[in-house]
Amino acid sequence: MTNQVAVIGAGIMGAGIAQTCAVAGLRVTMIDVAQAALERGLLSIDNSLERLVARQKLTAVQKTEALARIQATTDYAALAGAQLVIEAATENLDVKLRILRQLATLVVKDTIIATNTSSISITQLAAVVPVPERVIGMHFFNPVPVMALVELIRGLQTSDETHARALAFAQQIGKTPISVRNSPGFAVNRILCPMINEAIFALQEGLATAEDIDNGMKLGCGHPIGPLALADLVGLDTLLAVLEVLYEGFNDPKYRPAPLLKEMVAAGYLGRKSGRGFYVHS
Ligand code: 3HC
Repeated sequence: MTNQVAVIGAGIMGAGIAQTCAVAGLRVTMIDVAQAALERGLLSIDNSLERLVARQKLTAVQKTEALARIQATTDYAALAGAQLVIEAATENLDVKLRILRQLATLVVKDTIIATNTSSISITQLAAVVPVPERVIGMHFFNPVPVMALVELIRGLQTSDETHARALAFAQQIGKTPISVRNSPGFAVNRILCPMINEAIFALQEGLATAEDIDNGMKLGCGHPIGPLALADLVGLDTLLAVLEVLYEGFNDPKYRPAPLLKEMVAAGYLGRKSGRGFYVHS
């Protein structure tokens, strides 16, 4: 059983992972470089828990208890007691490599080092850690408190024991794991992101409006939200980063990012997090 986890990054994914672990009864240390980021993360956790209380999925007491289990800090040394560290920083290779190198010097023996990367090679990330057999991909889905899946990705070096412990942890926090071999975009994003990219090409070509493209996929295919609304939820910068990994990883033009996506990211239109993407968000 895992009792103590550390989550690096207090953004959308880090906060969602911290919340899910705390609700499951684990003690959580949430670490970020900036105090302001921690405060935003704690606020989003509070809002999300409140939503669950309003829908009677959680009691007010459970909310208070979950919040009390989360310690937010800018001090990396606080991760020392964790049995599992989950890196959930920005989807950027250099940032992730820097964090993994740093945390590897602080963890105790037996600690599992998981990364919530959306697409970066687990084998490559594990290679900078002195104990690469204890590194695994643990890919959560947005919004983390709601989505049931955790995709577990084994790098070339990941041991059977690390995989078994990660699997048990995912089940312990109420998620359903699937296991995937390391490969660009793993399984889910390899299928999902080209679909969203195709919707952006369709919009760019003037095939239909954003609303009609999204309604087409919602009403015709039973998707809970359309691909363009989903791009806004995921973040256009993250989507572009995943597509670039797929494009370079497979050397296959079918993964080329839509020029409109690149232009929107260049403009700072990143979706919900920036207030504007394919839709305007208040
Ligand atoms: N915290 C807590 N609860 C939340 C929440 C949050 N952040 N967001 C939504 N909810 C709850 C609501 O309270 C509601 O609860 P109920 O079922 O008891 O009524 C339920 O989820 C549905 O929410 P809403 O009624 O507000 O809105 P929707 O019906 O549109 O559902 C959604 C929201 C669950 C996000 C749904 O739109 C959905 O499933 N969208 C697709 C999400 C998806 O595909 N995510 C994966 C993205 S890919 C990814 O993350 C990988 C990355 O690497 C790119």
